[in-house]
Amino acid sequence: MIAIEEVSKRYADGTVAVDRLSLQIPNHSITVLVGPSGCGKTTTLRMINRMVEPSSGTIRVNGEDILRRPVNALRRSMGYVIQNAGLFQHRTILDNIATVPRLLGWSKQRARARAAELMERVGLDPGMARRYPYQLSGGQQQRVGVARALASDPPILLMDEPFSAVDPVVRRGLQEELLRIQSELGKAIVFVTHDMDEAITIGDRIAVMRTGGKLAQFAAPDEILSSPADPFVEEFLGADRGIRGLSFLSTRELELDRSQVFPVDSDWKRIAGRDEASSSVLVTDAGGKPLGWADLATWSGDVEALEPYGQSFEVGRDSLRVALDRAVLAPNGQAVAVDGAGQVLGVAGQETIAAAIRLARQRRAADAPQDASKLKAAP
Ligand SMILES: Nc1ncnc2c1ncn2[C@@H]1O[C@H](COP(=O)(O)OP(=O)(O)OP(=O)(O)O)[C@@H](O)[C@H]1O
Ligand SMILES: [Mg+2]
Repeated sequence: MIAIEEVSKRYADGTVAVDRLSLQIPNHSITVLVGPSGCGKTTTLRMINRMVEPSSGTIRVNGEDILRRPVNALRRSMGYVIQNAGLFQHRTILDNIATVPRLLGWSKQRARARAAELMERVGLDPGMARRYPYQLSGGQQQRVGVARALASDPPILLMDEPFSAVDPVVRRGLQEELLRIQSELGKAIVFVTHDMDEAITIGDRIAVMRTGGKLAQFAAPDEILSSPADPFVEEFLGADRGIRGLSFLSTRELELDRSQVFPVDSDWKRIAGRDEASSSVLVTDAGGKPLGWADLATWSGDVEALEPYGQSFEVGRDSLRVALDRAVLAPNGQAVAVDGAGQVLGVAGQETIAAAIRLARQRRAADAPQDASKLKAAP
């Protein structure tokens, strides 16, 4: 949908911000521009909506050179979200969101109805409609910024470090919200960040840029993690790219151990008498939900006295990265696997997870990397 072809930007003072950049940005996907400060991310984004004019090269949207489009019409076909939301301080939340529909000539009533609908979509309490931006938290303001960008339902969304001013927990929530909205709306989203974790979490494709406005690598996140193009990309990914790469491996084929799992109303005498090596068992409630670990040699049968099992992971939804994390954090090294309803499917120790990682890697190596379907999972 957006084709950036050999585009360069040299500012008046001679700074080359972007150097012969070529990128194909497809519809229905999130393309992330990532790279160190000053590498030309914002400049690239602003060239797409013509807030900055390229010095050379061409940008096409659906095949048409954007220089041929009236600049106002072009900008209204693109929602734009920036850091700190960039809201109009003297307008209410509702009127901020209704800005572009009003510019497009919608009646006040229709624009406000649309704004109210968008508040709901981005997870804002309707009670906030009449407040002013300063009466909202940073994370709430970012949601307003996203709602405002979506108001006229533009096919393209340009987002420049939209979530970088909020704390990690709020940020994670905003990222999830964006993914949910995208799964419903299927926009072409260009998202700028200098946080590689954010890029991996939300990107379908990631363009890694280096200082001087040059493209270092353009690929799916799992490919960038498993085969960085050069030492610059590798260093940018940081020391734990191996662990991060596990975010793309499914827990579906993990070999779960069921032999240590028992409901609380079991015949404990018989279980204690079995001649299996492990005397540690996971006790579940009658509905199959985990309660905690019991050492059969000492446990009295009191549910209150069970050892905590930590956090569980959901088979299929969570990645091997999550499963490994749970196992590492669990006091006995065993991660508890549950289904979508929270019922225990079994447990997996670190060794089991390591074996699954090796198996998944072998499978991946056998597949063509570009066919690898992407698993969006919490890191
Ligand atoms: N109007 C301007 N005139 C001159 N140089 C500029 C102008 N705007 C940006 N630059 C320079 O162009 C380069 C790229 O800037 P840009 O804002 O695109 O970087 P960025 O990747 O978005 O950085 P950050 O992560 O810090 O936001 C920088 O060296 C910057 O100083
Ligand atoms: Mg920038």
